[in-house]
Amino acid sequence: MLHDGKILIGKSGEEKIYIYPQMANRHGLIAGATGTGKTISLKVLAESFSDCGVPVFLADVKGDLAGMCQMGTMNENVQKRVDAMNLAAEGYEFRKYPTAFWDVYAEQGMPLRTTITEMGPLLLSRIMDLNDTQSDILTIIFKIADDENLLLIDTKDLRSMLQYVGENAKEYSLAYGNLSKQSIAAIVRAVVALEAEGGDQFFGEPALDIRDWIKTDFNGKGEIQILDCQKLIQNPTMYATFMLWMMSELFETLPEAGDLQKPRMVFFFDEAHLLFDSAPKALLEKIEQVVKLIRSKGVGIYFITQNPKDIPNGVLSQLGNKIQHALRAYTPAELKSAKAAADSFRVNPEFDTFEVLTNLAIGEAIISVLDEEGIPTVVKKTTILPPQSMMGALDDATRKNQITGNLLYARYATMDDRDSAYEFLQRKAVADEQAEIAAEEAAALEKQKKKEEEKMAKKKKTVVKSVASSAAGTIGREFGNTIGKSIGGSFGKKIGGNVGASLGRGILSTLFKL
Ligand SMILES: Nc1ncnc2c1ncn2[C@@H]1O[C@H](COP(=O)(O)OP(=O)(O)OP(=O)(O)O)[C@@H](O)[C@H]1O
Ligand SMILES: [Mg+2]
Repeated sequence: MLHDGKILIGKSGEEKIYIYPQMANRHGLIAGATGTGKTISLKVLAESFSDCGVPVFLADVKGDLAGMCQMGTMNENVQKRVDAMNLAAEGYEFRKYPTAFWDVYAEQGMPLRTTITEMGPLLLSRIMDLNDTQSDILTIIFKIADDENLLLIDTKDLRSMLQYVGENAKEYSLAYGNLSKQSIAAIVRAVVALEAEGGDQFFGEPALDIRDWIKTDFNGKGEIQILDCQKLIQNPTMYATFMLWMMSELFETLPEAGDLQKPRMVFFFDEAHLLFDSAPKALLEKIEQVVKLIRSKGVGIYFITQNPKDIPNGVLSQLGNKIQHALRAYTPAELKSAKAAADSFRVNPEFDTFEVLTNLAIGEAIISVLDEEGIPTVVKKTTILPPQSMMGALDDATRKNQITGNLLYARYATMDDRDSAYEFLQRKAVADEQAEIAAEEAAALEKQKKKEEEKMAKKKKTVVKSVASSAAGTIGREFGNTIGKSIGGSFGKKIGGNVGASLGRGILSTLFKL
């Protein structure tokens, strides 16, 4: 609920507990054991940000956030809270919120796509679980595509680019360093596997223009983008990579903002531990850096996870607004992490943080936020408001109506297949093949021509021979006849034949040369 321009999260006795919009870009944490109320706290916050005119992104891991597009309904649990917190006096009412549904598999929302280029080699390497060598090669493939002005939009583009470079590995290795054929083949296999997991759907165009998410509706409410992650979460690496990609998109798209009265946008990442689990060091450093820098672009990031220890210290130390639901502390390991969680709060002399933390009821939390001066407030035990929108999942028909009724549906619903690396390389392959066939045909023709010329030459020689010999024969005969007439018939015939043959060849060969 928005109250006095501040985000009301709940009450600590009579005291209202707020998040200050001007400090909301100092990021936040919602933690707690399973079933303690994290998702509802997230909902309450998201509703208030929307009321405040701040656009919101939510990763919906269980499908229980989708109900935000519908008004809430009264039940016993909600009634108790409304009464106990005297919320009627605060203007509590049921409301629905402007929402848009997205899904990278295009089943539970509008298709959320990006391009291979926008995802970049580092994140793609992570999705495909490439080793360092393969990852370096992928980076080079991107560089080659860039140098040759080839667009890498979808997985077909990447696959054909890899195959092309693989086939010409020798030439490219000279210019770009060693490109082992085996490593390229391994990356091609990884791309094929990625396609089988849906990569052929979520890499493509129109790619999401993240500016479409930074919007308010005609009532000035921040629009809430809900990414359905029920299927995506089954592939934790893919889930984590998409979340990181979104963060980096926002980071790259938004200009520096300095200190704003309220954030430009707020992101909530559920199951946030997946962002960090088994992430290589280089990527962890990048995440830390983005979280640090994105604040000055006016973006607040809220991580939702069971235990704060799931989040690396470099990130955890940057989370200024903390809502900590109950933690169990039965095993030594649980005890240790609950103690660490309690110790991370600014002490309230009125109670023992650890004691309270381990005994909170559902929908209660210990909370510390950054005040107007940016100083962490003393920890307060807080009862969280009930949400104003519907709790729980959405029926299929309503979801479908919400999806197709969205103004962005026409823009994103169908995939275009623009001319890019795949199409270019296909054309090049066809052209190369045609050129090869033409060259072969030309060579065959030349060979044929030569053969025929040789044949002709041989024929002519034979003709000349026979012409010459018959000419010589005639001459000889005539000559012989003349001589023969005087010295004898048979002798004359023989000499005449010999002289005539050589004489005739001599005359004809000179003619032939001319
Ligand atoms: N602030 C609240 N107001 C009203 N009901 C609440 C509140 N917080 C929690 N509840 C009740 O507790 C249930 C569990 O809460 P929630 O789903 O938020 O838990 P969670 O910590 O997200 O659990 P999980 O780890 O399984 O995702 C809710 O369905 C709701 O009935
Ligand atoms: Mg939950």
